[in-house]
Amino acid sequence: MALKLLTVLSISVLVSAGGMVVHESRRAAPAGFVKQGAAPANATITLRVGLASNNVGGLEERLMSIATPGSSEFRQWLSMDEVKAFVQPSPETRSAFDSFASGNGLRPTVISPSGDWVSITLPISQANDLFAAQFEVFTSPSLVHPITRTLSVSLPSELVGHVDVLHPTTAFPDPNPRLGAAVSVDTRLPAKSCNSNTDDGVITPACLQALYGIPATAATQSDNALLVTGYANEFAQDADLAEFLKLLRPDIPANQTFAVLTIDNGTNTQDSNLTSSEANLDIQYAAGIATGVPLQFLSVGNSFSNADFMTALMDTTTFLQGVANPPTVMTTSYGLNEALFGSSLATKICNGYMALGARGISALFSSGDGGVRGLHDNPNLCQNNTFIPTFPASCGFVTSVGATQGFAPEKAVNFSSGGFSNIFPAPSYQTAAIAKFMETLPSDFSGDFNRTGRGYPDVSLQGLNFEIVFGGATALDSGTSASAPAMAAIIALINDRLLAAGRPVLGFLNPFIYSTASNTFTDITTGRNPGYHCNDSAVAFDAVAGWDPLTGFGTPNFEELLAAAME
Ligand SMILES: *[C@@H]1O[C@H](CO)[C@@H](O)[C@H](O)[C@H]1NC(C)=O
Ligand SMILES: *[C@@H]1O[C@H](CO)[C@@H](O)[C@H](O)[C@H]1NC(C)=O
Ligand SMILES: *[C@@H]1O[C@H](CO)[C@@H](O)[C@H](O)[C@H]1NC(C)=O
Ligand SMILES: *[C@@H]1O[C@H](CO)[C@@H](O)[C@H](O)[C@H]1NC(C)=O
Ligand SMILES: *[C@@H]1O[C@H](CO)[C@@H](O)[C@H](O)[C@H]1NC(C)=O
Ligand SMILES: *[C@@H]1O[C@H](CO)[C@@H](O)[C@H](O)[C@H]1NC(C)=O
Ligand SMILES: *[C@@H]1O[C@H](CO)[C@@H](O)[C@H](O)[C@H]1NC(C)=O
Ligand SMILES: *[C@@H]1O[C@H](CO)[C@@H](O)[C@H](O)[C@H]1NC(C)=O
Repeated sequence: MALKLLTVLSISVLVSAGGMVVHESRRAAPAGFVKQGAAPANATITLRVGLASNNVGGLEERLMSIATPGSSEFRQWLSMDEVKAFVQPSPETRSAFDSFASGNGLRPTVISPSGDWVSITLPISQANDLFAAQFEVFTSPSLVHPITRTLSVSLPSELVGHVDVLHPTTAFPDPNPRLGAAVSVDTRLPAKSCNSNTDDGVITPACLQALYGIPATAATQSDNALLVTGYANEFAQDADLAEFLKLLRPDIPANQTFAVLTIDNGTNTQDSNLTSSEANLDIQYAAGIATGVPLQFLSVGNSFSNADFMTALMDTTTFLQGVANPPTVMTTSYGLNEALFGSSLATKICNGYMALGARGISALFSSGDGGVRGLHDNPNLCQNNTFIPTFPASCGFVTSVGATQGFAPEKAVNFSSGGFSNIFPAPSYQTAAIAKFMETLPSDFSGDFNRTGRGYPDVSLQGLNFEIVFGGATALDSGTSASAPAMAAIIALINDRLLAAGRPVLGFLNPFIYSTASNTFTDITTGRNPGYHCNDSAVAFDAVAGWDPLTGFGTPNFEELLAAAME
């Protein structure tokens, strides 16, 4: 037996010497996944191939220039074709992939407007050969269906530098990308107080307007839209939105609706029996705060039953890259732990947000609800000091939003996720803010995290006990998934005022936020983020003066943000 094993190993070494280069690998499947054996050799698999963009570095440089206050091209956002010129693969990349494909009898289909994503369908046996992979079937108690993945994927040397990603290969899914705590019954309603630091405090649109100085006057610009993304079979309910507005924004027409966009066979089923608290929360706080701003709900199908939220994220970026008049703001209250993606897939999706930022779209994401311990609150991790970053929040081309609670003081909620990426280095706009934060960490700090990574969140906003309407009844919902749509709605209102003044919209926000935050955000300096169920013995970050990885720069001041935006 031992001899045979040695033989097999030496063959694989020979194969690598013969021109295969390991592209991405992981030591084992993530916790919870169980191998069921090799995938049937004659079954087919459809792989998405992310081809290298011809000038992603050039796009990044241009975006940083456009997005940074003081630049001569400040906020001169790019057209669809200008972005495409950076994102599309070079002729060399296209021909390298095309000759690889035709030489192996494959027929690629282009699946993105810039041509940087193609798909190929091939037998497992061929996929194993071409990419030195070993596709296996995995099950997980959390998945409805088994999935096919490989722990390692290689590229023939002629594709190195031309292919960025092969998916699905080494990225593993999680069927629950939703944020938002379980919805609880409305024992505190009608609300007596907006102070969620107290037992009867409940957040409504009026509370947020009062706390952050958000105007109730209606937007006037029709060429502005706020897009709410919907994944994982979450459907925004028209009747619940109407009831919410009737109860909590009686000053605006209760017939305010939203346009429904769909990709990947998405729908927006109206059936109050479906559990759609996330989509309801998101659309209700988008509508309830962004008074009069045209709203869109993008329902992305196929992100639930086959659990491929990762494909859904990539399809969202490529869909919006192909829209001639895109929304000016998009908000997403979903994510997964960064490690599930792996570096190549996370990087390609993150570059998709870079492309959207360059078009002038502000992309806001919830930071996660497990404190330093990842996306979801998990009491089993309280004693584990290895912090878990979340994605897309950890991508430096999105604006990540954490959660606060109460006032006097307004403090970080213990579930507000934040930390540092293990994939993306800190972008230049935040290195000074991070360095200042690091000085506040005790020298014996026992949390294990990546000190060179992109830090998140960037900002924060209330996230505890939001009143929503769900299935016709009032309910309370909490999470950074409440914070992100409310923050996105504020940005959409500012865009309305900018457009009314004939000015360009805010677009990619972070360089603007990091250079104006001392005036435009209220610093939050109390609170810790061990996770909702982890007591004070659990290691976590503390909110401090200045930027910190649980509240970012703090909570918005509408008047100051508007003034800085108009400068
Ligand atoms: C694959 O091969 C197995 C065993 O030979 C056979 O039972 C099965 O029908 C084949 N499946 C396909 C999709 O051809
Ligand atoms: C909404 O209601 C107002 C009256 O409150 C009406 O003027 C308007 O046409 C309605 N809009 C839609 C889309 O039904
Ligand atoms: C959408 O549904 C159609 C019909 O069921 C199917 O053929 C197609 O593959 C689906 N598209 C996607 C992206 O899943
Ligand atoms: C919701 O469920 C109830 C009870 O199961 C059923 O009577 C009702 O028809 C369902 N509503 C819809 C819209 O399917
Ligand atoms: C702690 O978490 C890390 C990262 O999630 C994991 O690799 C490690 O095994 C965990 N340690 C224990 C003792 O559970
Ligand atoms: C830390 O982050 C950097 C990117 O800033 C990355 O290259 C490195 O691999 C990460 N280290 C670990 C141990 O994950
Ligand atoms: C986390 O904060 C919430 C909201 O204030 C509180 O109800 C909960 O008890 C806190 N958890 C711990 C472990 O202190
Ligand atoms: C804190 O939680 C841990 C389990 O995570 C438990 O062992 C410990 O007793 C708790 N401490 C307090 C003060 O409640």
